[in-house]
Amino acid sequence: MSPSAPTTAGTGLNIEKVRADFPILQRSVHGKPLVYFDTAASAQRPLKVIDAVNDFYLNHNANIHRGVHTLSQEATEAYEQARIKTAGFINAPAAQEVVFTRGTTESINLVAHSFVRPRLQPGDEILISWMEHHSNIVPWQMLCEETGAVLKVVPINQRGELEMDALADMLTQRVKLLGVVHVSNALGTVNPVAEICALAKQHGIPVLVDGAQAMPHQAVDVQALGCDFYCFSGHKMYGPTGIGVLWGRAEHLQAMPPYQGGGEMIRHVTFEKSTFNEAPGKFEAGTPNIAGAIGLGAAVDYLQSLGMENVAAWEARLLAYGTEKLSQIEGFRMIGTATHKAGVMAFVLGDIHANDVGTIIDLHGVAIRTGHHCAMPVVEFFGLPATARASLGIYNTFEEIDILSDALKAAIKMFA
Ligand code: ALA
Repeated sequence: MSPSAPTTAGTGLNIEKVRADFPILQRSVHGKPLVYFDTAASAQRPLKVIDAVNDFYLNHNANIHRGVHTLSQEATEAYEQARIKTAGFINAPAAQEVVFTRGTTESINLVAHSFVRPRLQPGDEILISWMEHHSNIVPWQMLCEETGAVLKVVPINQRGELEMDALADMLTQRVKLLGVVHVSNALGTVNPVAEICALAKQHGIPVLVDGAQAMPHQAVDVQALGCDFYCFSGHKMYGPTGIGVLWGRAEHLQAMPPYQGGGEMIRHVTFEKSTFNEAPGKFEAGTPNIAGAIGLGAAVDYLQSLGMENVAAWEARLLAYGTEKLSQIEGFRMIGTATHKAGVMAFVLGDIHANDVGTIIDLHGVAIRTGHHCAMPVVEFFGLPATARASLGIYNTFEEIDILSDALKAAIKMFA
């Protein structure tokens, strides 16, 4: 670590203790200590999450909401506790507004089919931004093709920030939903979601926020944001894969028809007609990912024990240090230079292809993601086929940024 490198002092985090919570960080890759900078793709899990999932399978495993026996009741209790914890974490007014899904993608598809589709007429518009993940583009595109509605895209500037004037102009009577990412996974831009929701509200336009990359980095308060739907995934916030959340305003969830039919989502079934459960059960057809939800609850507990303000403060220091350090490398160009950023340093390195950069630095034990990051339009906006992306987690250190920097210099040497 260079002498000027900042430390955790004053952030409220004890980085050694945090790192000790993540057993996988002890392993080596190609004979070097693992340096994990791919948290935006999937975060590592603390022992508390792994233990919670193990404990469920070892001691309480049974189906939920379906049994009078002890294990089923314990499983139901743990699953519903996870919903309550998750609701508290995002300051949802009620736990019933938290729907467990497979992840952000399923949450967005649920809103597309159950909330937006019944409201769409040919010529109506769905508005999204240029920096959306494919999961907040493709479901809307499919819906537009089916209904004759039109997908409109709010432009961004060269720093990777939303053009707010254009956004305001595009909020017309025709728009039936605005879908916007809270933190861009490809650029790290933090969008002014509260401001956007307030603007949309003036026109009565509901707002869906893709919060997948915001949840691990900052405190999220859905009431303060003023959105209608907030979607996120467990595995990006130190929880299990295959579990996620759709938070929706109670009045929307009550009015929306079910998304999928099957067990659990019904109240009464005959061959002539079925009636449905209240939300959230109405949207959780079939046996859900019980262990995943419990693991997500443990991830919430873990993040709350660290304090999201501390997490945000630590990562802001890492981002500032990393941005300065990497910018000193000849040929390094940051892609995404918004004033408000979190968690992501996407870049190109001279004319070395991003995949080559990623492959070479993997030999140094450094894991980054390369490619289009499931956000092709925004990568192409910068005239690139791909970028390399180092994304930050609570366990990263300044020493690791130095290792990344040295590994990138080694990559440049190989291609010189
Ligand atoms: N959307 C994930 C990423 O940003 C997979 O890498």
